[in-house]
Amino acid sequence: MVSDGLVEDIRARADILEIVGDHVQLRRSGKSYRGPCPLHGGDGPNFAVDPQRQIFKCFVCGEGGDVFGFLMKHLGFEFPEAVRHVGARVGIEVPDREERREDPYAPLRGVLAFAAEWFQSRLREPAGAGARDYLRRRGLSLEEALDFGLGYADDEWRAFRSAAARHGIEEPTLLELGLLATSEKAEEPYDRFRGRLMFTIHDLRDRPIGFGGRILDASSDAPKYINSPESPVFHKGEELYGLNRARHAMRREGRAAVAEGFTDVIALHRAGLGFAVAGLGTSFTADQARRIGRYAKQAYLLYDSDLAGLRATFRTGDILLAAGVHPMVVSLPSGEDPDSLIRRDGSGAIRQLLDDAVDLLERKLQILRREGYLDRVEGRRRAVDGLLSTLRAVSDPALRDIYVDRAVEGLGIRRETLVDEIARLESSRPRRRPPAVGTGPPRRGPFPASRTEHDLLLLLVRDPALARQAVRVGLEPGHMSDPRGRELFEILSAAADEGIDSPDWTSASAAAGGLARALRESDRELHDAARVFDAVVRRLLYRPHRERIKEIGRAIVLAEPEQQRRLLGEKEELARELRAADESGAFMPTATER
Ligand code: UTP
Ligand code: MN
Repeated sequence: MVSDGLVEDIRARADILEIVGDHVQLRRSGKSYRGPCPLHGGDGPNFAVDPQRQIFKCFVCGEGGDVFGFLMKHLGFEFPEAVRHVGARVGIEVPDREERREDPYAPLRGVLAFAAEWFQSRLREPAGAGARDYLRRRGLSLEEALDFGLGYADDEWRAFRSAAARHGIEEPTLLELGLLATSEKAEEPYDRFRGRLMFTIHDLRDRPIGFGGRILDASSDAPKYINSPESPVFHKGEELYGLNRARHAMRREGRAAVAEGFTDVIALHRAGLGFAVAGLGTSFTADQARRIGRYAKQAYLLYDSDLAGLRATFRTGDILLAAGVHPMVVSLPSGEDPDSLIRRDGSGAIRQLLDDAVDLLERKLQILRREGYLDRVEGRRRAVDGLLSTLRAVSDPALRDIYVDRAVEGLGIRRETLVDEIARLESSRPRRRPPAVGTGPPRRGPFPASRTEHDLLLLLVRDPALARQAVRVGLEPGHMSDPRGRELFEILSAAADEGIDSPDWTSASAAAGGLARALRESDRELHDAARVFDAVVRRLLYRPHRERIKEIGRAIVLAEPEQQRRLLGEKEELARELRAADESGAFMPTATER
């Protein structure tokens, strides 16, 4: 058997047009390509290939399918053979014997299945009484909870470890899967999930691949959620919570809903919106978008309505557009998530919000209008910038046309101007982030040259859990100009996501490791860490604004009067945005509500 992931990778990279084109003379005809059908041997142009949907169809013999189906039908290939053939074309090698080889991760899967069952049984047994109470308070019956794969991890140091030992499970596997943890303070490995409601994360074949655990004790200062670390069978950047259940509804309805949390997915499914999924605590990736795109061409974004949630919505929206999925923005009442809203107002309320959802571009325009950007000429200039990422992201040509028209209309600018802007190279625009890895000479000092980066890293090294908030508001490794800083930021954000308090510095390069050490040993005092965090995150996120302002300052002296007016207008807008961001305290880490 060829693995599902490999098949999808190959499918994603292949171009059906090119492969069918080897066997059929195709000519463009509108959005598709036509030619004589090689399957029934006709000679009229009845055989159509749709490059957008990557499928073929013959209107005479009725045969149709994807690129693999074509090779199977035309050349009589078996499925694995077709996959290997296409794989060779796109440069992905399919291991020769994969179909005969045993699943190398079978032992890991066995342990994961054992753990899932163990957590479920603990929820049913007397030990799980507290967790069952908690579920009841949240309006979830035990049956439903178990059906969704929920479980309970005892509030003991080694309950799971003993159970696993009784079943002869090897400790290294448990450590690799992050089910056990070690610490210098403890002599023996201990259960990493303790006193937590357990959410089982499944793959598309309904096999458990990882867990998320929510703390039950509201007074604990442990992270609210911790997740399984990456493992050979668990890749957070690719998986979506609930996709195993949601994909059928997604395909049926042609739409998906993307929420932030496990509990939201469950609440949405119970409310009859079975097409809901969630990411796994990390920021949304192109792989996840492509996964959604295999089942649905429209996705409703159900993120928090605060500023951080809005940023995440727009970022995710652009990623979905690039994957050919049309994002719709749902505006939740402030302070509510889908789960809390459904509990408060019932499932009718969430359905209504989905009905009221607006397309991503429309939502951006609404916000720009509300904030007064569209009233003045200079504002419109900035508004164009706000829409460009979205206009550039759309991969569907038809939607792109619609978007450009809508933006032209909404902004009141000329179509040609906008199209020029879209086509302009990213590099000629004010940079969203500092140069990528490998540019500029390496820095030799112990600390990053930028005080802001230094302070951010210092805060994160001292309180690694903060990295989650940093990631959530959109900070990325690329925002650090110091290569070591980028590396540390990556390690820290991975650890925060797994709820690990002590990031694994051993994976760092010597230079980055040295910086981590220096930071840990630093005795620089930061009074009011939350405020410093808010300030440095804002500085880093808005650095491109300040760079552009400087650039304008330099350019303006040489500019013609007309151009000067434009540049001044742009500069004022940038300054206004900077001031607005300055007042908000928007990036302040909040104590996670429980
Ligand atoms: P939320 O804090 O919004 O939690 O985190 P929630 O889903 O509303 O949970 P309840 O209703 O309070 O029980 C949303 C998601 O972010 C990730 C988890 O995946 C969570 O489902 N997260 C959150 C973490 O990974 N770690 C955290 O410490 C917090
Ligand atoms: Mn919630």
